[in-house]
Amino acid sequence: MSLIKFLLGPTKALNLNMIKKISYYLKFLFQGTSKYNIHSPMVHDFIENILDSAIKYYSFIGIEHVRSLLLKQKDTIELKDMGVGSQSIKSSTSTINILTKKVQSRPEKAQILFKIVSFFQKENILEIGTSLGLTTAYLSNANKNGKITTIEGDPTVSNLAKKNFKTLNLKNVELINGPFDKIIPQLLNNKFDLVFFDGNHSKEATLRYFYWLVDHANEESIFIFDDIYWSYDMKQAWAEIRKCDKVMLSVDLFSLGIVFFKKNRQKEHIKLIHRSNFY
Ligand SMILES: C[S@@+](CC[C@H](N)C(=O)[O-])C[C@H]1O[C@@H](n2cnc3c(N)ncnc32)[C@H](O)[C@@H]1O
Repeated sequence: MSLIKFLLGPTKALNLNMIKKISYYLKFLFQGTSKYNIHSPMVHDFIENILDSAIKYYSFIGIEHVRSLLLKQKDTIELKDMGVGSQSIKSSTSTINILTKKVQSRPEKAQILFKIVSFFQKENILEIGTSLGLTTAYLSNANKNGKITTIEGDPTVSNLAKKNFKTLNLKNVELINGPFDKIIPQLLNNKFDLVFFDGNHSKEATLRYFYWLVDHANEESIFIFDDIYWSYDMKQAWAEIRKCDKVMLSVDLFSLGIVFFKKNRQKEHIKLIHRSNFY
């Protein structure tokens, strides 16, 4: 996919946000490094086994089949207003196919999540922002002995996700319908070893959820942030997250920001120029 096509997204119109995103990416290219200049063995392994891995697992077929069915559904649904930073669809109604096209992570991105869970054998996973549950399905299939807790505030969208979990026969997913600010504090004793932040894209909310959860993170935890260049606000949130004392390594893929907490290493921040920047 070309850079322009990726940055324009489904709208194909060059608006102010897209121009900003292009300028962010140009700066990213200028500051970034390619995989050939990586010295850390851990990051090298991460690139080789996750980002560069071309393996397509059997479970991908079923999930992508569900996506293709959702892309054909034109039923209108009412969306609950979850506040600033929460919506990539501005109106209060949408159709299932538009929600699928605009809000769900692309297959390539969801497959990176799958490979992270599978490679690091993560067992206790929290997803902040379920939507129709396609990324949840990837997380679930990546380790069937693990447990995925996923939170979605919109009751209609939650019910659609539940239907998809049933179709895909997912047994290790608990979907909690409620606002993040109410639900996350109730879950903090769960000691999640992987958290995927993909909900409220405001700086304040992202940092609030991060600080709540980072207090419970251990050396083996991995936190993954979606849309770190979605807005200036999110860029600032990401800059603050990677500076946190507990964060020892952050990998910026432009499309995702990933942080690790392993001690006994020099703090490092890598902006990786890679095809996954466009996922
Ligand atoms: C970007 S979507 C998640 C997409 C999904 N993880 C994927 O990649 O396929 C974010 C979801 O979070 C929900 N959400 C946003 N803000 C919320 C909040 N404050 N409380 C609960 N849910 C919220 C939205 O309804 C939306 O469905």
